[in-house]
Amino acid sequence: MRAAGDPELARALEVAARPAPGDDGRALTHGFHAWSARMHPHTAAALIRDVAAPGGVADPFMGGGTVLVEALCAGRPALGADINPVALEVAWARTRLWSLGRSGRLVGVAESVAERAREILASEPVPRGLRELEGGWYDPPALADLWSLDEAIAELQDTGLRRMMRACLSSLVVKASRQRSDSVAELDADHGWVPAGRVPEWLVRRADEHARSLVALREAVPAGTDEPRLALRDARAEVPAFAGTVGLVLTSPPYPGVYDYVQHQARRYALFRLDAREAADQEIGARRQSVRAGWMSVAWRFEQDLGAALTAWRPWLAPGGRVALVIGDGEHPERVIRVLPLIERAAAAAELVVMASVSQQRPVFGPARAQGDEHREEHIVLLEAAG
Ligand SMILES: C[S@@+](CC[C@H](N)C(=O)[O-])C[C@H]1O[C@@H](n2cnc3c(N)ncnc32)[C@H](O)[C@@H]1O
Repeated sequence: MRAAGDPELARALEVAARPAPGDDGRALTHGFHAWSARMHPHTAAALIRDVAAPGGVADPFMGGGTVLVEALCAGRPALGADINPVALEVAWARTRLWSLGRSGRLVGVAESVAERAREILASEPVPRGLRELEGGWYDPPALADLWSLDEAIAELQDTGLRRMMRACLSSLVVKASRQRSDSVAELDADHGWVPAGRVPEWLVRRADEHARSLVALREAVPAGTDEPRLALRDARAEVPAFAGTVGLVLTSPPYPGVYDYVQHQARRYALFRLDAREAADQEIGARRQSVRAGWMSVAWRFEQDLGAALTAWRPWLAPGGRVALVIGDGEHPERVIRVLPLIERAAAAAELVVMASVSQQRPVFGPARAQGDEHREEHIVLLEAAG
């Protein structure tokens, strides 16, 4: 591991960058729903413990909500946002501090949803529009089960249970489909057939697992801690209400040109009838944009976007407040995009300075390897207000 800057802070970052061997990061609600490039919970917990000033913890690129779960466990006010509507639902479902009784209802609700879905399927076919749009991505019984389960969930009267059941179903969508994985939206030639009745079985099991995780989360969170404030919002937006309240902005921005968060969720938008146009316009660092442009323009655009985000967050910082970025180098067909210089310049534009950083080498798998770039790095970078 390569460290730079203030030695004491760099040591704290090194601790955060090294989860214990065998820690798969799936404790509490962390294993609930896939999210590409999720942060290791150890990293989030250690940074909140060792480098946060007093005050709230904010994650403006929250994804599946790892940072928010760890902020809750530290008894901190937690603020989260993302532009992706699926992220909002996943983070919401992972951060509920439900009573034992309410979590305990999840399995019974999942069983009744499965029962009602069977009735719906017996009386109605899968809508033609959905079959035409998504049919190629599923074995027909799996699509029928997903659609009828979603219809049955829509009938639930209790908004919280309805959201939670839909999040449980959402966590199974890619597994039920022929899509290769949550972060590769391609057809998987080796996909195993998903027979009728399999998805409802998975839903009941997932509800049971999640109910147990929610109970464990509630036990881990100090009494009196509120559930996080979550929003569907661009990370570059100003939020005057947060002024001076945040001890640590801890976040993992998209790595330039590596993922396509909006495209990864395409199955879910179609099934749950979500409108992702705004998210597609606002997503920064997306691979789909980067392959159409030269690497210098991708790097420049990323620096501008990150600078705008840092400028928006700086007024949030409480006295002594910091920003910690957990981020990997980007990838472009022409080369690896090294992010540390981009972060330094974006920080300077926002009147922030880099206090310390640590970097670990990772292999390159994409086309940049063919250009001779065999390594990229993942970094934790700590920023403070300049002057
Ligand atoms: C690396 S992921 C965050 C993962 C998260 N730390 C976790 O543990 O699950 C980056 C996130 O940034 C989001 N994102 C991309 N552009 C954004 C924007 N302009 N504003 C807010 N979120 C954005 C993506 O939707 C994605 O969820």
